[in-house]
Amino acid sequence: MSFDFDAPIDRHGTWSLRWERLAGRDIIPLWVADTDFRAPEAVIDALRRRVEHGIFGYTVAPGELREAIAARALRLYGWRIQPEWIVFLPGVVPGLHMAVRELSAPDEHVLLPEPIYQHFRRAVERAPRAYDAVALVLREGRWLLDEEQLVARLRSNSRLLLLCNPQNPGATVYTRVELERIASIAEHHDLVICSDEIHADLVLDPAASHVPIASLAREISRRCVTLMSPNKSFNLPGVGCAWAVIEDDHLRRRFSTELHATVHDPSLLGYVAALAAYRDGTPWLAAQIDYLRGNRDRVVAMVAATRGMTMARMQATYLAWIDVSRLALRDPDSHFLAHGVALSPGAQFGAPGFVRLNIGTQRRILEEALQRMARAASAAG
Ligand SMILES: Cc1ncc(COP(=O)(O)O)c(C=O)c1O
Repeated sequence: MSFDFDAPIDRHGTWSLRWERLAGRDIIPLWVADTDFRAPEAVIDALRRRVEHGIFGYTVAPGELREAIAARALRLYGWRIQPEWIVFLPGVVPGLHMAVRELSAPDEHVLLPEPIYQHFRRAVERAPRAYDAVALVLREGRWLLDEEQLVARLRSNSRLLLLCNPQNPGATVYTRVELERIASIAEHHDLVICSDEIHADLVLDPAASHVPIASLAREISRRCVTLMSPNKSFNLPGVGCAWAVIEDDHLRRRFSTELHATVHDPSLLGYVAALAAYRDGTPWLAAQIDYLRGNRDRVVAMVAATRGMTMARMQATYLAWIDVSRLALRDPDSHFLAHGVALSPGAQFGAPGFVRLNIGTQRRILEEALQRMARAASAAG
């Protein structure tokens, strides 16, 4: 089967957040994390069939999607989950908010790796909970959670550890051994772990593979809430379907009672798209990974050839985390914007000297953006 990720697709006028905000300007928008790729044909067909049915009423979570998720977890990760451990969500972000609010008490403390996808911090601050950031450290070209620092930040009332694996930004895929060390700290200090694994399908490094932290052992699984979704990997955030896998009955009840009282279920179309993606989207996903590897190689080459830019190994995701601190720019993303590329500012994730580049686009667009970025770097004085 062949898939054409180079096919140009005009997203103007389609209400795309990424493209609409800067419409009408000569700016390549490579910021917010969706891609410019059409979803697999199987997903589009399934949606078309459901739209033709014409009834969009209240919906129960489909048993066959629960089964498909459990079967996939077993196949990909050797992770044995029960379908009833799955709690559906319209997106991963409400799951982050729910985890912080329901799994820690107002007087308890949260640990937060940094830099991190901005909604983690927002979830903690809006709950609100006391928290400490644990700065990721660069070791052998990978951004890692520093265990010594993690232990040093613990307080007697620490309750919740938030984890993002694969990491956004930073693009790390944690190894089993690294996860075991983190899990053992959580066990020792009786922490609940909320692990956002939305990028699990997007591992680019052939030597790495995703390990859900909850899959390490039953004792670990009982303290975990794992957030997953096909939204990133199959480019479905506009229809939206996500879930939490929670083995422990007590944690699951706490998480889902408030969730069901306040947050809407995924839409009917979200369920349809997720099921079709998991049942029939595997060849498309493999082809997309190949294409993204090619895009990543272009970025790595541009960064290596450009004075003042560096990046760690991009093991996963379609988000390149680029250190531009040596360019000594007062406002890095505004500088790149002025040279025709919209990037996500590092400050949004807690690291002002960085920018995040979304490489989930046609190679022709990416190549032009990379040339503009190189020019912006040489114009930086
Ligand atoms: C780590 C992470 N979690 C959650 C999300 C958003 O997920 P959703 O659109 O399902 O709420 C993103 C999107 O960039 C992300 O990178």
